[in-house]
Amino acid sequence: MALNVVILAAGQGKRMRSDLPKVLHPLAGKPLLSHVIDAARELGAQKICVVYGHGGERVREALDAPDLSWARQEPQLGTGHAVLQAIPEFAAVPPAPTLVLYGDVPLTRVSTLRRLIDAAGDDTLGLLTALLPDPHGYGRIVRVDGKVTRIVEQKDADDAERAIREINTGILVAPGEALARWLPQLGNRNAQGEYYLTDIVAMAVAEGMAVTTAHPDATWETEGVNSKVQLAQLERVHQRNVAEALMEAGVMLADPARIDVRGELICGRDVFIDVNCVFEGRVVLGDGVRINANCVIQDATVGAGSIIGPFARLRPGTELAEDVHIGNFVEVKNSFIAAHSKANHLAYIGDATIGSRVNVGAGTITCNYDGANKFRTIIEDDVFIGSDTQLVAPVTVGRGATLGAGTTLTENAPPDALTISRAKQMTIAGWKRPVKQKKA
Ligand code: UD1
Ligand code: CA
Repeated sequence: MALNVVILAAGQGKRMRSDLPKVLHPLAGKPLLSHVIDAARELGAQKICVVYGHGGERVREALDAPDLSWARQEPQLGTGHAVLQAIPEFAAVPPAPTLVLYGDVPLTRVSTLRRLIDAAGDDTLGLLTALLPDPHGYGRIVRVDGKVTRIVEQKDADDAERAIREINTGILVAPGEALARWLPQLGNRNAQGEYYLTDIVAMAVAEGMAVTTAHPDATWETEGVNSKVQLAQLERVHQRNVAEALMEAGVMLADPARIDVRGELICGRDVFIDVNCVFEGRVVLGDGVRINANCVIQDATVGAGSIIGPFARLRPGTELAEDVHIGNFVEVKNSFIAAHSKANHLAYIGDATIGSRVNVGAGTITCNYDGANKFRTIIEDDVFIGSDTQLVAPVTVGRGATLGAGTTLTENAPPDALTISRAKQMTIAGWKRPVKQKKA
């Protein structure tokens, strides 16, 4: 069944107290609005239209894509007026049910939306409703003999209506042609002087169109973000969901409340992740990988049996083969490290290709940047790099070579030999430290 989606994102979001438009605030590293757009894409929408408002050009610039269309709502006269702005965008595609989503409601499950769309079909109005212990503030679902007759907003409701606990989540799906017919007929004679989208319910009933309802599995699915507090709450809900999915898939988490996944984390069997690790972008962890506490890992691949951290940072383009050890205060960027190699303490490995069974000593630094350009460091198999060594790229350390501690390597080091650059040690017997002259 074809589907159109309207995403309302014209609200200002004053309560965020931020120069960043509300819907660009990140949840799990991704703008709120992107979560909603991605859900619409997953539903296979033929057309997705984002309604944006004053100051929203930044939103459009940040998230524009070939499959999106944009409708500006200026001024903002209510949710019904907002959806009306999107209707011309759907003229070019075949008529289809139109789903209304909200740019600040990021966590609605696609399965829930599908349930709503399926329940509504192409000839009824479908509402996503929920039973809340405290329905204050929401539009209430008014039913007569079990059948929905209209929605009344909190500010327009009488006491009996305010006692209704079934609320309008705001998400609905309506037959496209009927929606285009109803929206221009909306009035604004209500407590807020707004064109309410919710008034289409009574219009549908007046036409004899059936109104169907579906419900989310969890209340957080339809919660919106109006403040930084609510943003943080939904972030935790999302991270908890991600943690549970990882554990269901067999990953062992030291504490599911202390992991942050801001992207895609793909794990093999028997992966262990200790507390306070952050995963960004696309991270792949092979079988038996152990991530110790306090690591930050972004767009990296970690081979089977490798041990990372504590306090390690793997940056984009890091690719580790099996049984690689990256220890505390080691940063790796855009580098490949082959099997059984180790960098266990205090090192920077950037733009390097490192062979198998290499030992990178504490304090080793690849000097990959001359202030203008980046260069590669190549370290072949079975190399031993002594502590506190600088490798000034481009430079190659030949197979089996040893670099003495404290070496600053500016020329290639030949294989199977010791290369060392260090001032010769000497001792001056009887040497005295200078003494400060006392004032007379
Ligand atoms: C709306 C519903 C209410 C429901 C509640 C759920 C209406 C009239 N009421 O009320 O039944 O219980 O959501 O949260 O629809 N927006 C625009 N342009 C506008 C007005 C709003 O884009 O002119 C967007 C806002 O950015 C926001 C969303 O629509 O994301 C909801 O608007 P808001 O005014 O907050 O609706 P509520 O009063 O919460
Ligand atoms: Ca309002």
